[in-house]
Amino acid sequence: MNLAEYLKSKKKVVDNALKDIIEEYAPLVSRLVESMRYSLMAGGKRLRPILCMAGATAVGANDNDVLPVACALELIHTYSLIHDDLPVMDNDDLRRGKPTNHKVFGDAIAVLAGDALLTEAFHLITSDWARHKVSDSALLDALSLISRAAGYRGMVGGQAADILSEGKNLDLSAVKFIHTHKTGALIMASVTSGAILGNGSKDQIRAIAEYGQNAGLAFQIADDILNIEGDSKTMGKNVGSDEERGKMTYPEVAGLEKSKEIQSKLVDKAVNALRDFDKSADPLRLIVHYIIERHK
Ligand code: IPE
Ligand code: IPE
Ligand code: MG
Ligand code: MG
Repeated sequence: MNLAEYLKSKKKVVDNALKDIIEEYAPLVSRLVESMRYSLMAGGKRLRPILCMAGATAVGANDNDVLPVACALELIHTYSLIHDDLPVMDNDDLRRGKPTNHKVFGDAIAVLAGDALLTEAFHLITSDWARHKVSDSALLDALSLISRAAGYRGMVGGQAADILSEGKNLDLSAVKFIHTHKTGALIMASVTSGAILGNGSKDQIRAIAEYGQNAGLAFQIADDILNIEGDSKTMGKNVGSDEERGKMTYPEVAGLEKSKEIQSKLVDKAVNALRDFDKSADPLRLIVHYIIERHK
């Protein structure tokens, strides 16, 4: 299996589906809709939707059936990026290779575009499109997992901890808390919801959640490392900003070499969690390596 081709073809499926999701409905709101589309279609990697689809594939399901929920995950992720970049948060001016949402639309519309993407995600999960593809009970389980992962017990909690920790001297367990919450939680929920919607067994769902926890933390450590070693043009966002803002990151607290060691252990753990799966889990096995080897 060629991972680059796999990621490219799945990204295309997600991009195509996302294109039609945000509808125009009233002229007075068209600027908001434009702002939502601006960030959503700016060209992210679509990793969370792809993980959701790969989670379904791993349990032998058709990944097209999880597409509505996969798209919802990208809406939630995009909202989190718009808010993360705001002047009151990380104050970044470059995202996905373009000026950040608030730079183009102003802070108020950027906040509202984030709010709207978040709520639309839950509308999508409960839409006819989603309900025609999978059972209501699987959808309800996925909804419960995703809403928990996105809120104060997960991503929003992690974002608050990240902001409140700026300039502080924390230990590795505190940084681990920040990373597993602000980023790990949604990544874990992405891949696990795929397995839930694909009707995986309890053991399969548990194993995939373990994969997701390890892959999610590895993903944020890679983000920290790229903020030091990466190329701004390739990544479409600024480098060096974590140090400028006094962010608590793995390289800051553990050093670069140790951070890379921790990362590869997390990859081993993620792969090991999939030991009882056959080759249907190969996309997941390859994606976790990509997560730490990526340049963007
Ligand atoms: C960036 O996420 C923000 C983090 C949670 C680390 P991605 O690296 O997945 O960003 P896009 O979606 O490809 O732009
Ligand atoms: C972003 O973390 C996490 C969320 C948006 C939930 P960072 O602030 O470290 O990510 P980048 O580097 O801006 O993408
Ligand atoms: Mg941040
Ligand atoms: Mg940021």
